[in-house]
Amino acid sequence: MNKNIAVINGDGIGPEVTKQSVKILDAVAARYGHTFQYTYCLMGADAIDKTGSPLPDETIEVCLSSDAILFGAIGHPKYDNDPTAKVRPEQGLLKLRKSLQLFANIRPVSTYSTLHHLSPLKSKNLEGVDMVIFRELTGGIYFGKKQLSEDGNTALDECTYTRAEIERVSRLAFAYAQGRRKHLTLVDKANVLETSRLWRKVVQDLSPEYPDVKVDFMFVDNASMQLMLNPKQFDVVLTENMFGDILSDEASIISGSLGMLPSASVGTGSALFEPIHGSYPQAAGKDIANPTGSILSAAMLLDHLGMAEEASQVRAGVEWTLAHGFVTKDIDPVNYYSTSTIGDLIRDYVEQKLPAGVD
Ligand code: IPM
Ligand code: MN
Repeated sequence: MNKNIAVINGDGIGPEVTKQSVKILDAVAARYGHTFQYTYCLMGADAIDKTGSPLPDETIEVCLSSDAILFGAIGHPKYDNDPTAKVRPEQGLLKLRKSLQLFANIRPVSTYSTLHHLSPLKSKNLEGVDMVIFRELTGGIYFGKKQLSEDGNTALDECTYTRAEIERVSRLAFAYAQGRRKHLTLVDKANVLETSRLWRKVVQDLSPEYPDVKVDFMFVDNASMQLMLNPKQFDVVLTENMFGDILSDEASIISGSLGMLPSASVGTGSALFEPIHGSYPQAAGKDIANPTGSILSAAMLLDHLGMAEEASQVRAGVEWTLAHGFVTKDIDPVNYYSTSTIGDLIRDYVEQKLPAGVD
């Protein structure tokens, strides 16, 4: 197959982790006879430095005409503590999500037995954890009206959801649950928020169309506790934009390293794939960051392109490195390998050229 892939390196460690994924996608293309055409484009602090805008129009055009987008990370500390900054790197990502109608963010949370010791949770609570968070990504408080009064003393962020917005992401989550353990948990704050009550209503209305899926409802404060107490109970978690932002970061520490987890943002057209970690500026350029989150995002990208076998080869490569102790500094601060070495090893695995002396 011929596919156009937009590549956005972004900020901090974005370029170096994305480079590993491209290397592995090239190996996939060679082994399975595909052609991947990459177009590099700008977003985030990098784009502000080079063009003045966090999301140049050209990036939107390239992404709109691509089959998939591979993205690294966004953010730079110089913007974080400046509440008056008018232009922020994150605006680029938010605008891209909206422009491409990427209304569902999918974050699988899995655990690896070799990493149990890194998790703040006890091993017995980690066995069998396998959940996927579906976060609504283009609505809610993130995209509502924002205002600061003239005297600068009153601020407003509005949260709005329409039935249509809730329905489209809920349908994806229901369908996804049907292919898994058939359990959907809607996380909301329906005891307080009108938008949450609409979410509950819409999910209840859709439920008869998916009779094999068991639906539960959970308040977000309780859900944040349950995620730590008994993460095994979750299969597919569906939630609105801001709750999903918070809960997916919370859930990410279950696996032991934020550096391991991938995500997909899907919508009506092209889809975007990115590790869930941030730009980690302290590690930028040092070749120490964990590229696994990006590489597993590339696997999700392959799945999205209908290349399931290719995706499972990449995942097997990741598992192979973990099983053989080929890990980055975040996983083993003493015996660790560089970002690019991990990328090379997974590439070799995909190319079926395992290093000599290691089976
Ligand atoms: C994420 C990030 C973004 C978000 C930021 C960078 C705007 O935290 O993808 O979860 O809040 O959605
Ligand atoms: Mn976030």
